[in-house]
Amino acid sequence: MKTIPFVSALIVVLSVVTATPLLSLPRPSSDPPITTPKSVLDRGLECQTGSPSRQTRPILLVPGTGVTGQQSFASNWIPLSTLLGYSPCWISPPPFMLNDSQINSEYIVNAVHTLYSGSGGKVPVVTWSQGGLAVQWALTFFPSIRGKVDRLMAFAPDYKGTVEAGLLSTFGLAAESVWQQQAGSAFLTALKNAGGLTRIVPTTNLYSSVDEIVQPQFTNSPVDSSYLDNSMNVQMQQICGGGFIVDHAGSLTSQFSWMVGRSALGSKTGEAVSGEFGKQDCNATAAEPLSAQQKSDAGGLLLVAAGNLLGGPKVKCEPDLMEYARKYATGMKTCSGVIM
Ligand SMILES: *[C@@H]1O[C@H](CO)[C@@H](O)[C@H](O)[C@H]1NC(C)=O
Ligand SMILES: *[C@@H]1O[C@H](CO)[C@@H](O)[C@H](O)[C@H]1NC(C)=O
Repeated sequence: MKTIPFVSALIVVLSVVTATPLLSLPRPSSDPPITTPKSVLDRGLECQTGSPSRQTRPILLVPGTGVTGQQSFASNWIPLSTLLGYSPCWISPPPFMLNDSQINSEYIVNAVHTLYSGSGGKVPVVTWSQGGLAVQWALTFFPSIRGKVDRLMAFAPDYKGTVEAGLLSTFGLAAESVWQQQAGSAFLTALKNAGGLTRIVPTTNLYSSVDEIVQPQFTNSPVDSSYLDNSMNVQMQQICGGGFIVDHAGSLTSQFSWMVGRSALGSKTGEAVSGEFGKQDCNATAAEPLSAQQKSDAGGLLLVAAGNLLGGPKVKCEPDLMEYARKYATGMKTCSGVIM
């Protein structure tokens, strides 16, 4: 019968069509509702000195997967940003950034509004790993913060997730945000289709080709997870050569990271300036201004994150997308099934 191949071909075509997410819808122009009570979000925001609602020159630090703000930055950008004259503030979405990254982003939205209205100025943001991804999610889906973020300095952000997170979920070790950070997840598809893979505020991305957590990072092209269109993208090995070995934590804490971060935070354009860092700064050890104790703690950062990750909650599927994000990821699968 001739109809059988035709019908099966049609089924193939239809299933391909339904499984293919929509491409690039316009970026949202108004904020969706925040689902977490403000008192809870406020509890996740701290500053080194004083109340978050009364700060002069605050800088917002957003941690990566497996750590609190304090754990992520006490050995590096809390002291380093203080040295630059900022008052460091950080969020700690519980537990250790392991739960739904959409909720982690709500902490970012709340922190930006609080620090902006308390200081009367735009807030620079420094991130590590998932922190950069969650900030880009917040900028993409919550337009109210776009004019309140001064710049983004992202160390080893995983805007396209990582092909290595799949291993964790295969072994049943994945927390909610780990599922979301698997390359090709519904969450990452929604970010991409909503226009989240291009610069929204002045942005510098610094990353290492030999990152052992986030990959791909070795192509020095838009394929790299940390690469964002129209931004200042710095792959360390492009400047320091292929033998320059910096890992995922070192991407945040190294001497080279300090030089790039300092340039990004001080520049008029809001992005790191190529002339302000170079081969002479290719030192993979912890940033020079840090104390011996801080350098030693910086070296142990990944162990802290790994411990919290192993001890933290695990789930069996990717968390459902919030209503506002679903239309950007139709055809993708989350815990409740395929997004229609
Ligand atoms: C994190 O997620 C787990 C699993 O979904 C849940 O049991 C827990 O209450 C969540 N924790 C927080 C702080 O939201
Ligand atoms: C890197 O910096 C450290 C001090 O922080 C120094 O001891 C070391 O010699 C430097 N290495 C290179 C290759 O410059």
